[in-house]
Amino acid sequence: MSTTLTIRFAPFSQIAAPKPGRGVKADGTPTVLVVFAGKDGELSVGTKKLLGGAKETVDRAAKATKFKGNVGSSLDILAPHGLAFDRLIVLGTVRKEDEKDLPPQPKDALAGGALMAKLSSACKVSVLFDPPHGASADEGAALAAGMRLRHYKFETYKTKKKDSKDTKGPEAIDVTVGVADPAAVKRAAVVQDAIVEGVIAARDLVNEPANVLTPVEFAKRAAELRKLGVQVDILDVKAMQKLGMNTLLGVGQGSINESRMVVMRWNGGGKAQPVSFIGKGVTFDTGGISIKPAAGMEDMKGDMAGAACVTGLMRTFALRKAKANIIGAIGLVENMPGHNAQRPGDIVKSMSGQTVEVINTDAEGRLVLADVLWYIQDKYKPQFMINLATLTGAILVALGNEHAGLFSNNDELSERLAATGKATGEKVWRLPLSPGYDKMLDSKFADMKNIGGRFAGSITAAQFLQRFVNKTPWAHLDIAGTGMSSPSNDINQSWGSGWGVRLLDRLVAAHYEK
Ligand code: BES
Ligand code: MN
Ligand code: ZN
Repeated sequence: MSTTLTIRFAPFSQIAAPKPGRGVKADGTPTVLVVFAGKDGELSVGTKKLLGGAKETVDRAAKATKFKGNVGSSLDILAPHGLAFDRLIVLGTVRKEDEKDLPPQPKDALAGGALMAKLSSACKVSVLFDPPHGASADEGAALAAGMRLRHYKFETYKTKKKDSKDTKGPEAIDVTVGVADPAAVKRAAVVQDAIVEGVIAARDLVNEPANVLTPVEFAKRAAELRKLGVQVDILDVKAMQKLGMNTLLGVGQGSINESRMVVMRWNGGGKAQPVSFIGKGVTFDTGGISIKPAAGMEDMKGDMAGAACVTGLMRTFALRKAKANIIGAIGLVENMPGHNAQRPGDIVKSMSGQTVEVINTDAEGRLVLADVLWYIQDKYKPQFMINLATLTGAILVALGNEHAGLFSNNDELSERLAATGKATGEKVWRLPLSPGYDKMLDSKFADMKNIGGRFAGSITAAQFLQRFVNKTPWAHLDIAGTGMSSPSNDINQSWGSGWGVRLLDRLVAAHYEK
């Protein structure tokens, strides 16, 4: 059963027991009260007042379950004695020593996610967000954002659950969050909501099947950003031929679904030099003539997670009216075998003028990015380029699902990405680049080949990209392990995670806005 989630903010005074009568609302919806505890289960004055006689029940429950008020732990009490709610949830807020200096995101978002996890069917929820140590407006907004991120489900193609005659449609989870200063929290929530919208847009794109989300359809969805004031240019095959983007076009030539490149621009920074984000958008990766094995190939509908992140990110920037000039560019292709497909041994000339011998048609992402990176660097001279790509299976071998691989020609950009990764929970781990690895790409017949040897697969892929970057500060994030199919967590239960939107939004907010 799917549910709808509505969250509103109100002053503390509005969080009161339902009246008249007790518990269950007139329409039969159970009522839930949520409060927050500090160290050793300590409660704020306001919380104790609201709990009234039920305080004793909480103390007994805390004692019985050794509740210490730590983040992630909770008390869940049904029909609490002396309280006119059907259920009382006490959430812990005490962070571990090493998490003390984390900003509201992700910790309070995680708390929101943990709360959401407890609410699976219709209910009316009153949250008294009044922990004993106090809570900032940002924390209130982050709590709500975490609830929304956790609540997300991709159900577009579940016809039975939505339309079945014998259900009354989705159940409503109706949440009122009581906070000290609702106006301030609502202001903070504009930013948090923009982030949530961006993450959800990215997740939707990654989850969409490849028969629906072709390059042309993806471009159409990106064009919807025009409504938010984003300039969107779509380049078709002819336009890219004119520019000489032959490494990108070679990947898509075996598919009946035509390739596209989309450039999105948000101009919120006056005369400032733009920053840029570039995404791999392989809407499906069969491997091409170097075809992949059948098992698990369905996951390759997510080989556009980089492009999805960039598109979601542009939505976030537009919604929160970021004070920066930001370019988002995505290369959209489908990698298919076919009578016109690229062959192993083919030599193609990239827009940069460099030639590439295609040894393996399954190493296609780097071919796509080579031309998009070059185009953006050449045309816009950005402050930096950050590209995201589900580029190599090898990054899963190295880092699993915990960190994305980071490769960069710039220490400052790398350090900022690493620090922001820790703060948001979207973590990156830097791996090396060096001439020795670069040499592995030398080709007998062309300027380079598109694969290295058997080893260091993620690094040689990054070295390949670097051959299309001049002096521009650049970072490549290999998100094959984080963009899709990673284990679910407090704020994500979806196959497509929307990884990177929160990280890169914060990076820009912290360092590149006026
Ligand atoms: N899209 C894949 C990488 C990938 C693998 C993403 C698993 C997500 C999960 C990429 O295009 C690819 O096929 N890479 C090859 C490179 C090889 C041919 C050098 C790989 O990783 O095997
Ligand atoms: Mn591939
Ligand atoms: Zn791929």
